[in-house]
Order: sequence, then structure tokens, then C-alpha cells
Amino acid sequence: MAKEDSEREPSWKSDFPIETRRGTHVSRREFAKFLGLLSGAFALSNGFIVIRAIAFPAEKLEGEHFVVNEDEVAVGEMFQFEIHGDKHIPYILIHLEENEWRAFEQKCTHLTCAVRYRKDENKIECPCHNGWFSADTGAVLQGPPPRPLPQLEVVVRDGKVYVKEKSKDQNA
Ligand code: FES
Repeated sequence: MAKEDSEREPSWKSDFPIETRRGTHVSRREFAKFLGLLSGAFALSNGFIVIRAIAFPAEKLEGEHFVVNEDEVAVGEMFQFEIHGDKHIPYILIHLEENEWRAFEQKCTHLTCAVRYRKDENKIECPCHNGWFSADTGAVLQGPPPRPLPQLEVVVRDGKVYVKEKSKDQNA
């Protein structure tokens, strides 16, 4: 005797016989392929960042730029600022000691995460991949960053803090 219409399997099930278990199963090969594609995408984006940095080096900073009044940043504190040119470049100003100031680009030289001064360590930290830089020179102390942080010269005059491009001898 033929089954009632309501009991019969819908015809699409026999036309497309997919088992739920097979439909959601991810084979080892598929997973490895996914991982391969993912790491390829990461490698490409890293390569793009490096190529862009080589092809479009940072522009020279012309003249002095006022940052902040000297008494607004206590010893041991960091002050974030930007210089507006063709691009907005973020920097950090660090009041290291009495009459000792440092200014660095805030973009980590690894993958451009924002770095910050850690007063407790007296170092600059990149929290993205545990990168560390010297707060005195910007040199890499630990982690994946390939280069020191670009540094500006700090000039304090009449209670005001200015920054300007570091001269070649100072960079050496
Ligand atoms: S982005 Fe700074 S350590 Fe990776």
C-alpha cells in the first residue's frame, strides 16, 4: 500500500540526498586549505605594509611645531599629539626627567599599533605583540619590531615645548 502524502519524504530530499553529518563535516584537508589561505592573506597584508613604507617614506617635517606648555606634562608622564601635514602622524611626547624630553612616532615599526609609555617600566610598550622600545632612544629592546621608533628633537623655549626633525648627526 502506498504511503499517505503527508508521510512521504518530500521529493527534494531524494533529489538532493545530503546527510546533515556530511554537510557540516570539515575534513582535515579542507581545514589545512583554510589555514593555508589565511596565512597567505596575512603574509600578503604584511608585505603590503612593508612595500608601502618603502615606496612612500615618511615626509620630512618642516620647521618647529608647538606641542604643549611645559607645565602641562609632569615628569614621568606621556602626552599624545598629532602633526597635521598631508597625513596626520601621531606622536608621543615623554617627560622623562627634569629638562629631559623625548618625542617618538606613536606607530610601532612592526605592524603600526599605537605604542605607549609605561612609567612603571620606564620603557615604551607595544601591546599588540609584546614589543618594547627604549624610552631614551626609541631602540628596540624586545619583541618583533624590526626598527627603532622614529624620533623627533624636542626644544623647550619660554615654557613651551616644540618638536622638529632630528638632524642627521643626532639620528646617527
Ligand atoms: S605591532 Fe607592535 S609589536 Fe607588533
